[in-house]
Amino acid sequence: MELDDEGSTRDESPSSMRPVVHFTPQGGWLNDPNGLVYADGVYHLFYQHNPYDVCWGPMHWGHATSTNLIEWTHHPIALAPDPLGMIFSGSAVTDEHDTAGFGAGAIVAAFTYRLGDRETQALASSTNGGSTFAKFDGNPVLVGPDGEQDFRDPKVIRFGGARGHWVMLLAVRSQVWIYTSHDLRTWVPTDTVGSACADLGVWETPELFELVADDGTAHWVLTIGTSHGAPAGGSGVRALLGRFDGRRFTHDGDEFWVDHGSDFYAPQSWNGAPDDRRIWIGWMSNWLFAADAVETSWRGQMSVPRELSLQSAGTTYRLKQTPVPELAGTWSEAYIESLVALDPERAHEPDLNGEALDVIVEGIDIGASIEIACRRGDAVVIVRVDRPASRLTVSAHGSGGPDLGGSSGRATSADITGAADEERLRIILDTASVEVFSGTTTISNLLVNSDEPWWIAIRTDHDATSLGRLEIHRLRNIHRGGTADEEGAFSA
Ligand code: FRU
Repeated sequence: MELDDEGSTRDESPSSMRPVVHFTPQGGWLNDPNGLVYADGVYHLFYQHNPYDVCWGPMHWGHATSTNLIEWTHHPIALAPDPLGMIFSGSAVTDEHDTAGFGAGAIVAAFTYRLGDRETQALASSTNGGSTFAKFDGNPVLVGPDGEQDFRDPKVIRFGGARGHWVMLLAVRSQVWIYTSHDLRTWVPTDTVGSACADLGVWETPELFELVADDGTAHWVLTIGTSHGAPAGGSGVRALLGRFDGRRFTHDGDEFWVDHGSDFYAPQSWNGAPDDRRIWIGWMSNWLFAADAVETSWRGQMSVPRELSLQSAGTTYRLKQTPVPELAGTWSEAYIESLVALDPERAHEPDLNGEALDVIVEGIDIGASIEIACRRGDAVVIVRVDRPASRLTVSAHGSGGPDLGGSSGRATSADITGAADEERLRIILDTASVEVFSGTTTISNLLVNSDEPWWIAIRTDHDATSLGRLEIHRLRNIHRGGTADEEGAFSA
């Protein structure tokens, strides 16, 4: 891997297997999204990045920006390791009123330095819209108790608007520690949050936001990455619902996994997104096999950005993730059919294929059980919706199937089950991933990269039934659309 004059990585590989609509680094390794902030009409995406190799290593913050969350412009590395350590995960805020003294409107990044097995929290600021960052000369701003090895991933949010204060969440062993500050430099501990899921290993990458549910009530959602014990094995993300008063989080609601697939981790939401939108993006991998995922000149991709909402479900609430509407900006050719008759004897095979597809199924009858086979070459991903059993299953088979690593780098099958609680289903297929959304259930899986086109076939399992509507949209390749060259290198 080479660094060019500006410190960006260059990808010399053929682009054909690069995802069509998902974010990937130009070259090298990517894991967690970091520093997500919306400032002056621009979404910033920083990310854990090793520019020198396609494996985890000396971590930097890579940087990209977008005005529509889908088409990204790559920028030079924002933060590189120094004598205080590697640059681990963290967040960013816009300091409108110059509380920290770096300048009004400065973008301030809060990140973890990792040196040996010691972790401390630090700041860096940018007064040129994120083009360059200066590390604070008073770093580190927060040092953990002696001997505390896992003390990382600061998520900073503003609580209470202009008259309020800053809040920092840190992942510490199997807890989240909460701190507050008036100037981003001095932090006072205010709370410690544990949970029944303390046996899920070390916690990482905390996130906290408020959502108003569909019944009009407001709730706080705390999410954490757990290093093991997730539904599909390995690392995963838990959500805890509760109340937050600016200092203390009270976990008085439900607790659940946010994704049932193997590959959605360390999600972070954009601070300051317009119109009160709560949008997050996650790293599509799993620490159990991330290092073994199929190798190209880059390794690692983000999920599609997802808009979050909260739905009441009996006596509790569930997080609903919906691909951002901006994704529809990449729709090109479409196959659209209303009242699709399905017959158990014969699969319905729409005549539209694509390297990446957005499949939307509506009006799945409450008594129906249907199977959507997504094929490319000898690989197939089967999405099964069994409405009577309220079950959603995604299974992948064949050499373009799940990218589960292991010694061969390929596994042939994975069955993942969640609840199918809605008559609507959405499947986003790209060259190296599948994401399935059904009501409040989401299943995200990495696949072995392939440039063979996807084909869709739908059948009913038992009795004849019909679907209200079927839409299949071919997705336009964001790397070939005039603003970017074939290697995914957008011009700044
Ligand atoms: C989560 C994580 C973080 C850490 C970063 C290191 O995936 O392990 O806890 O800051 O990745 O790259």
